[in-house]
Amino acid sequence: MTAYKIHEHKYDMVVVGAGGAGLRATFGLAQKGLKTACISKVFPTRSHTVAAQGGISAALGNMGEDDWRFHFYDTIKGSDWLGDQDAIEYMCREAIPAIIELEHYGVPFSRTEDGRIYQRPFGGMTTHYGKGTAQRTCAAADRTGHAILHTLYQQSLAHSAEFYIEYFALDLIMDEEGVCRGVLALDMASGELHLFRAHGTVLATGGYGRAYFSATSAHTCTGDGGGMALRAGLPLQDMEFVQFHPTGIYGAGCLITEGVRGEGGYLTNSKGERFMERYAPNAKDLASRDVVSRAMTIEIREGRGVGEHADHIHLNLMHLGPEVIHERLPGIAETARIFAGVDVTKEPIPVLPTVHYNMGGLQTNYHGEVVTLKDGDPDTVVPGLYAIGEAACVSVHGANRLGSNSLLDLVVFGRAVANRCAETIRPGAPHKTLPASACDKALANLDRVRHANGGTPTAELRLRMQRVMQEHAAVFRTGETLIAGVKKIREVHAGFADVKVSDRSLIWNSDLIETLELQNLLGQAVATMVSAENRKESRGAHAREDYTERDDVNWHKHTLCWVDEKGDTRIDYRPVHMYTLSKDVEPVPPKARTY
Ligand code: FUM
Repeated sequence: MTAYKIHEHKYDMVVVGAGGAGLRATFGLAQKGLKTACISKVFPTRSHTVAAQGGISAALGNMGEDDWRFHFYDTIKGSDWLGDQDAIEYMCREAIPAIIELEHYGVPFSRTEDGRIYQRPFGGMTTHYGKGTAQRTCAAADRTGHAILHTLYQQSLAHSAEFYIEYFALDLIMDEEGVCRGVLALDMASGELHLFRAHGTVLATGGYGRAYFSATSAHTCTGDGGGMALRAGLPLQDMEFVQFHPTGIYGAGCLITEGVRGEGGYLTNSKGERFMERYAPNAKDLASRDVVSRAMTIEIREGRGVGEHADHIHLNLMHLGPEVIHERLPGIAETARIFAGVDVTKEPIPVLPTVHYNMGGLQTNYHGEVVTLKDGDPDTVVPGLYAIGEAACVSVHGANRLGSNSLLDLVVFGRAVANRCAETIRPGAPHKTLPASACDKALANLDRVRHANGGTPTAELRLRMQRVMQEHAAVFRTGETLIAGVKKIREVHAGFADVKVSDRSLIWNSDLIETLELQNLLGQAVATMVSAENRKESRGAHAREDYTERDDVNWHKHTLCWVDEKGDTRIDYRPVHMYTLSKDVEPVPPKARTY
């Protein structure tokens, strides 16, 4: 193995990722007196949170009656009863102080006439347990993620958090007792390696949307935390649940916010019909995303798609008028102009369900501690390791996330992990001595990828993976397509042995970084396909045409999937948490889910 020089740093905490979750955790930890490093492969304000548009949910009741208990109920129903109800209670209750805090930190939210935070309706958000429509999504026009990310970065700088920017996290450093002792990272500018020793390592690395061909996710969304977890022998939870956002721009994949429908926009087919009235008579265009994406797919399949190839749907907002569009939706007007060549005041936007969010990820409890199945206990804490945001599966979104619960998840659990670590970690506590071989496994993997000299360029293998995922783990799935998908994705995974990295340098070597990212994506692609093939029911975003009903008797449980280096998998299951933390809400038993 190559002899590498490694710079060693000692912190109380290291956070990997500087999106909304990573930054909320970073400054929360620093604020609590823990010496904290944040490492990020991109400049913090370029993290994918910047692309979040429509808003962040909290039952503030600024624009009509609301209650966090309604939010709790909606989130459970949205999750198709797969969400853990203790975590959902925690998130929906904590949403209110977490948003007020954001306001105080300086997030420039849009305002009502009387100066309160503006809130818009979003899919699946109701009052009185499904009876009314809630205006619960707090918005900064249609650039809410941008506003939040910049504010959180400013807060992190205001506290003494230390940033290591354009550092790529290679692997977790786990000791022989299964305790996480930190992370090894590559400084992409200098090509030098850095070992970040910490009492707690927080993975806030986002989702793995780029396992698919068409996604609203940035090209950086390669699920690096999930890849590192699999290599550390940990399972990923509920990976079969991949959210398709109903309104990605046809052909380009860019997000057009659900806020468009929240402001009164609607979908039409080639006959000009508002078809959602047939699929969700009450919520219509504001049904939850899995429901709308399926309805759009059926319309297209049955020959009612629009365009030359009848293969997409129209999103109409012309009737909202230039004033509302200019004030509430300026960003999407620009995006539609650039990526679809459409003037939204005059023409509909061509849209198609597009991969948007991973409900699955590292299993955690509501403190953000990574937990795993050990000796029959599915909630065993992995000491020293935490995960938050899209990298994690806490699980508040279950089988389907409600729009605007994602930004909320980031800030609530970023804050929760900071609070937890402040209670359990003593600032400046000494670090355990590590054996000289502590980084060997991570270095061996780096060496293997760096010196890969097969016959397949990284881009070619990545495209094969993306096409298999797009075709076989789509909005609708069948046993036949999934079995074929498992075979194909295993072949693509095996193809990594033949990958070619053209340049051995560690300095600004995008070929190497993209190959490391591909390795991370591949494990998660396999976990997604295998978990989907195994689940013989339809629930939330996992819609099987051979098992069309939800099956609570056999499948009301979370999937855990391990994937080893060779791509071999192991599946197990754990029960859904059907209990709450307080007496303020009762657990909600499964029932029919209609909108
Ligand atoms: O449609 C949107 O603005 C996306 C929001 C979300 O995914 O939470």
